[in-house]
Amino acid sequence: MADDVQADAGGALQDDFLGHLWPPFTQMQGLKPVIMERAEGAVVYDSDGNAYIDAFASLWTVNVGHGRQEIYDAINAQMQKLAIYHIFQIANEPSIRLAAKVATHMPGDLDHVFLTLGGGESVETAVKMARQYWRNKGQGTKYMVMFRDRSYHGTTMTSTSAQGLSVNRARFEPLLPGFIKLGAPYCYRCMWGKVYGEDCKMECARQVEQEIAFYGPENVGTMLGETMIGTGGVIPPPPEYWPMVCEICKANDVLVINDEVITGFGRAGTWFGFEQFGSDPDLITLAKGLSSGYLPLGAVGARDHVFDAFLGGPGEAFMSGATYNGHPLCSAAGLANLEIVEREKLVERCAELGPYLQDGLATLLKHPIVGDVRGVGLVAGVELVKDKDSREWFAPAQGVAAKVRDEAFSRGVFVRLLGGGHVLAVAPPFIISKEQIDTVVSVLDESIGVVEKQLGY
Ligand SMILES: Cc1ncc(COP(=O)(O)O)c(C=O)c1O
Repeated sequence: MADDVQADAGGALQDDFLGHLWPPFTQMQGLKPVIMERAEGAVVYDSDGNAYIDAFASLWTVNVGHGRQEIYDAINAQMQKLAIYHIFQIANEPSIRLAAKVATHMPGDLDHVFLTLGGGESVETAVKMARQYWRNKGQGTKYMVMFRDRSYHGTTMTSTSAQGLSVNRARFEPLLPGFIKLGAPYCYRCMWGKVYGEDCKMECARQVEQEIAFYGPENVGTMLGETMIGTGGVIPPPPEYWPMVCEICKANDVLVINDEVITGFGRAGTWFGFEQFGSDPDLITLAKGLSSGYLPLGAVGARDHVFDAFLGGPGEAFMSGATYNGHPLCSAAGLANLEIVEREKLVERCAELGPYLQDGLATLLKHPIVGDVRGVGLVAGVELVKDKDSREWFAPAQGVAAKVRDEAFSRGVFVRLLGGGHVLAVAPPFIISKEQIDTVVSVLDESIGVVEKQLGY
């Protein structure tokens, strides 16, 4: 038990952090705690009063920016009316209104919304939906799920089984059976050794067809993929990829789940990433930008034909869910958040500001250790390499990208390391100003320069 829960001095709080809080994905040994205390717009302040541009939007989440009174008010008003009521065979007003609002933005007959509390739970739910879908249709053998190298879908056992990052898988083996790993559409490091635009025949998409044929279409029911790989290193797919994958899946009666946890609600410059990457999913997973993280919230969006397969008797109903699905406060936060996105035209803003960010970051290519800069809208990755020609990475033990990140942090810019520790990721709130983008770019420029000098470039 904490002796001093009411720790006031920074030191006591830091001691309690190290002694009692066990955060995700964190090596506590040797950790130097930084405690974030407050935030406004695109800036977050730590408990020592240092300000940082939140260039990763609290894990690509706080799209509308920090400190939105309107969202606090909506949560507060709902709290005073009905703080909690579940939605098992019943409903509450904010969850209905939120589902209807999300449905107005999802194109085509993506009309049905299953509410969750986050991205991993959405993926868990969507995969279970896909499996029950095939059972309900009398094709229960189609339980196999394809996923890709470098994918990240969260940390539930299903998401872990569909993980393309071995560092997040290996410790938890054995994982669930029935998951088939494919290569990633990662043109900078094509696993087929091809060059996009030259000898590329879209082997990455064709592999979907090969694997379905290998395992048998009677056994493969689902293709799960982030519309744009995020945590694996910010990897936008080539434009042919998703149209080809969807065509192959349709021809083989395979459901497509696009994980839109990062790209949903505008980050790629359209309401959903699949709209610009030419995908045609049967199910989509959502979180992050749905509430901008003001309260935990996620969702699965489903097309009519998926929803319809669950109509019938009690045996056909989707037999999965959790106490807090459709939580009134989280739903109220999501509604207020989406109203801001609509009113302030933040998706359009993201589309407009995107090229400004991408062009700014592209100037970093002048550095000998910057191998690739890629992205779309307000999400970008800067991949560091030891050698530009060979594209060889630095040895992980050198921690080169971590040093750049730390230099940037000491200069007041928060970016995150992804892609196995070789990619600096930038994904700011949509309300970030051009001046703040300039600062992010110039701080990264300076930080890369400092580390290059240390390395003797
Ligand atoms: C594409 C994608 N899917 C799922 C998740 C998991 O979301 P959560 O952390 O809310 O469980 C993430 C988290 O970053 C993600 O990027």
